[in-house]
Formats: sequence, structure tokens, C-alpha cells
Amino acid sequence: MRIAIGSDHAGLNLKREAAAVLTSLGHEIVECGTTGTESVDYPDYAAKVAEAIQKGDCQMGLLVCGTGIGMSIAANKFKGIRAALCTCEWEARLTRQHNNANILCMGERVVGIGLGKAIAEVFFTTEFEGGRHQKRLDKIALIEDRNA
Ligand code: RB5
Repeated sequence: MRIAIGSDHAGLNLKREAAAVLTSLGHEIVECGTTGTESVDYPDYAAKVAEAIQKGDCQMGLLVCGTGIGMSIAANKFKGIRAALCTCEWEARLTRQHNNANILCMGERVVGIGLGKAIAEVFFTTEFEGGRHQKRLDKIALIEDRNA
């Protein structure tokens, strides 16, 4: 799978560490920035990752900022994006199984490096269960269409 990754300055370290986990799982990483430590604006990177998925260039994404909250708010403005802010492995598993989340958002200042890597591994190795959950995702898509 091709996975788009993005962060602001506050999420740079966890993004890099989580990317190494994804590479070890056999995924191809598409780096959407930022790549430096200077202060930047998280919506710019949420947009790059979301658009890579919308275009079909990548299948899933990873976004990290200080809390993960700004990234998730911004990414979920994009049609077809289901960005999930996860703070534990349980949430990562359930949001893949039930919500078919296609972007993992994390806060480096919240979860830290070790837990963040574990969350990323669970998220990117868990499959969507479909069935009754697909009907609910269809309703989210209808909401998107009504509010476009
Ligand atoms: C940057 O200071 C911080 O606001 C950002 O990383 C993020 O936490 C926003 O939601």
C-alpha cells in the first residue's frame, strides 16, 4: 500500500518513527512534509495527505501534530476522508474495523513515540469488517453530499 504521511513541526519525530514501522510492514511511504523543525501550519499538511488519497495516489494516510486534533479537524473537511484521532491501540483497531478510517491522526505531545508506534502498527494492520458498518459509512457519504 502507498501511505501518505504528513506532520507539522510538533509531530515530526513521531511521524518519522511511525513511518519506519510502516516501511517495516512493507508499505511505500509518500512524504508530504513538513521535513524541518521550523513552525508551520498543520492544515497545509493535512490537505496534502487528504488530496493524495482523493486523487488515488495513496490508499491511506498518517497525520501527526502536537495533539492530533487540528490535523483530524482539517483532514475531515475533505470528501471521502475518514480521519481518526487515536490515543490507544484499542481505538486504532476499532476505527479500522468499524469506521474504515483511511487516515490515522495522532498527537505526538499526547501519546509520545513508543505508544504512537504501537498505535500505527495496529491501525495499518487491521481490516475493515464491512457488513452493518458499511451501511453507516454510506450514511456519512450522504451527509457529505448534502453539505457539499
Ligand atoms: C502547534 O503548536 C499545535 O497547535 C499543533 O501541532 C496541533 O496540536 C494543533 O492541533
